[in-house]
Amino acid sequence: MQPSTKTRPSESLRALVGRGVAAVDTPALVVDIDAMMRNLGRMAEFARKHDMRWRPHAKMHKSAAIARLQVQAGAAGVCVQKTAEAEAMAAGGVHDIYISNEVVAPHKLARVAALAHQIAAEQGQLAIAVDSAEGVRRLARAMNDARESAGVAAVIDVFVEIDVGQGRCGVAPGRQAVELVHAIRKHPALRFAGLQAYHGKAQHMRTAQERHDAIGAAVQDVLFTRKLIEADGVPVDLVTGAGTGSMVCEAASGVYGELQAGSFLFMDADYAANERDAAQPQFEHALFIKTQVISSALRHAVCDAGHKSHAIDSGLPKVLTLEATGELEYANGGDEHGILRPAGGNRRVPQIDDVVWLIPGHCDPTVNLHNEMIGITGGLSEGKVERILRIDARGALT
Ligand SMILES: Cc1ncc(COP(=O)(O)O)c(C=O)c1O
Repeated sequence: MQPSTKTRPSESLRALVGRGVAAVDTPALVVDIDAMMRNLGRMAEFARKHDMRWRPHAKMHKSAAIARLQVQAGAAGVCVQKTAEAEAMAAGGVHDIYISNEVVAPHKLARVAALAHQIAAEQGQLAIAVDSAEGVRRLARAMNDARESAGVAAVIDVFVEIDVGQGRCGVAPGRQAVELVHAIRKHPALRFAGLQAYHGKAQHMRTAQERHDAIGAAVQDVLFTRKLIEADGVPVDLVTGAGTGSMVCEAASGVYGELQAGSFLFMDADYAANERDAAQPQFEHALFIKTQVISSALRHAVCDAGHKSHAIDSGLPKVLTLEATGELEYANGGDEHGILRPAGGNRRVPQIDDVVWLIPGHCDPTVNLHNEMIGITGGLSEGKVERILRIDARGALT
């Protein structure tokens, strides 16, 4: 039987390996592996310096091969947001996976419990977040059912999520969290692993001061909640959270023990628009859309990458400035087209065949639009294709 394109890169893509970047057809999602590895090294160094565990978010790259690189670089494992992402990572050989999100549907929890048992049999560990007593009850039921059919006694790590300012999932800091901790501890197949205190809204606050203030308030919420839990004689082993925008604050807090940041690896245009905190490692753009000019007029040109090539929820892509093209601005041209106009002091309108590199506004949903990433080394102009990175968890939304 022919392997499906979902499980293997197509023949023509595999044939690209070793060839020059010029051979990559457009539009294509391209990873600059040199830049990605530098970002990875900087993150590993940052975590080491601050004595932090890091479990980077794989919802960003959705690639088991990249997750394995992260673990080789020192990550404890990966975070994911969905059961299906966890399944994809486990199938790709990752053994420490944290579903940093609430799962409540019984049929999904049956999958979570089955995965917890499978990973435990491989000496790994699955973890999950909860924010309701009903969620705890259903998780415990699913774990008990799976235990009966698996014949082994796996234990799942459970983090109580508190809402530290995002207004998304999570119980209010304080007593509600304590009650959940006690509910978890009633079930032998669940282990209370700590608190999840992720502040999503803080990530793109533009100034470093705003982000410091937001995480400063989150830290107070965590301290207050932790004190109440510990007053009941229960240790809080780990506080987990942080994204690329705020990670320096969590790392400096002395309260958080684990960083979940994911986007640092590819560094999209939206994150680049943040004022950089002096303590933040200098992450580089590593994810690009290679696109080609297909039409050129007096004042603008048109490239072959539109909204089907990149997500626009965090703004339109930026154009990488190269000597060949000068500074360009990207404007909305619809699903399949991008309008390019000279910007800054540049007067040159791109010509037919010119190659233009876009920096996506938001890496996570951009990756989810593609089946593969073309991994290149040696630079965008002169480099060559090193490997094809399959996006294993593309469309893994359940
Ligand atoms: C729970 C959670 N943790 C961590 C992250 C990682 O953040 P980032 O990719 O912005 O670094 C996210 C991103 O949305 C998240 O939802």
